[in-house]
Amino acid sequence: MSSLIEDLIARKVFNNRGEETIEVDVITTTGFGRASAPAGKSRGKAEVAYYPQDGVDAAVKKIEEIIAPELAGLNADFQEEIDETLHEIDGSSNFKNIGGNTAFAISLANAEAAANSHGLLLFQFLGGNAATSMPYPLGNCISGGQHARGKSPDIQEYLALPHGAETFLEAVTANTKIHKKVGDALKKKSGTFNGGKSDEGAWIANIDTLDAFDVIAKACEEVGNELDFECGFGVDIASSSLWNEKEGNYVYTNEGTKRDTGEQLDFVKELIEKYHLAYVEDPFHEEDFQSFAELTRKTKNCLICGDDLFTTNTERLNNGIKINAGNAIIIKVNQIGTLSDAVETIDTAQRHGYDPVVSHRSGDTCDWHIAHLAVAYKCPIIKTGVVEGARIAKLNELIRIEHFLGNRAKMADLKIR
Ligand code: PGA
Ligand code: ZN
Repeated sequence: MSSLIEDLIARKVFNNRGEETIEVDVITTTGFGRASAPAGKSRGKAEVAYYPQDGVDAAVKKIEEIIAPELAGLNADFQEEIDETLHEIDGSSNFKNIGGNTAFAISLANAEAAANSHGLLLFQFLGGNAATSMPYPLGNCISGGQHARGKSPDIQEYLALPHGAETFLEAVTANTKIHKKVGDALKKKSGTFNGGKSDEGAWIANIDTLDAFDVIAKACEEVGNELDFECGFGVDIASSSLWNEKEGNYVYTNEGTKRDTGEQLDFVKELIEKYHLAYVEDPFHEEDFQSFAELTRKTKNCLICGDDLFTTNTERLNNGIKINAGNAIIIKVNQIGTLSDAVETIDTAQRHGYDPVVSHRSGDTCDWHIAHLAVAYKCPIIKTGVVEGARIAKLNELIRIEHFLGNRAKMADLKIR
């Protein structure tokens, strides 16, 4: 079977926020692949540029006029060669000429087309026979910070992590129950709660930053008892959004507090201990590798995960590895541009004992490729919400993969350490 690229077709589509994004079809002699790009709201400064200066229309034009002719005739099986060619065509260090989202959509559509050309599902093509490990779903239940509008917790995400589940389906069931219970509790607690949800499908409520911990802790405990396995939870503090560089402190607007770096460290450490948090993402701003290292040293049984800190970038991850900053890393392919770049980061993480957490973006489409990446590369966690169409697309794809694998499927090796 031949996977020679015949053509690329690009179009403008929309994400769940109604923002323009790019979708690409890769057509090979015997196969077809399609992918569309997501978009973040609380982006890391070190992420690649999403689009050329003139936006999605300019990106579509570049694909038609420059990129499609260059890729035609190449073999889609050779992902690294395709991704290298994208870097060469772009010529910059941050994809500012063709756009990182343009690269993302081409790269993923190419992988899909190669798999399809061989009559394989993407996770089989990328991971081979050994790809049988299912990730635990990390699901957003309460949104705050930049992901909410109006008065809401200062912390961006309160996330359920049902790490005692024995199957992916069981784990997703737990998250849906936790999400529902959290909604019921918020209704009782907040007079102004009207059932509003964020882009990621998490509840938005006028509730205190600390009260939200009690709400999700109780929901996790109740669902854990009902289903008879442990349901933990964690948070994405998205601290770069709270950080005031000039004053050198974290500003919790709704709480009406400010915390300097030392106070932030004590605050997060106390939360981890009090609520037995299983997961904390971005507890410090994106340049503070040292505080990440200190928190990692001072806590246990909690994953300390870098998102804006690492931006799926091997070089930044290596800076963290040197001083043991964190023990987990968010993988968002469009932070770095291509699948090959992201795989290099996943490899580096795994070789140094960091857990890769494959993640959606707050602005996302029904593209489900990250579900396949989680299984193919044995990522122990997928962060992709609980409800809302773009999230369900990925969760349901994992349910399909688990069903397809039958008794070969097993939950990933996840150590909350
Ligand atoms: P983003 O945020 O997708 O809006 O960048 C998600 C996150 O911070 O994890
Ligand atoms: Zn984050």
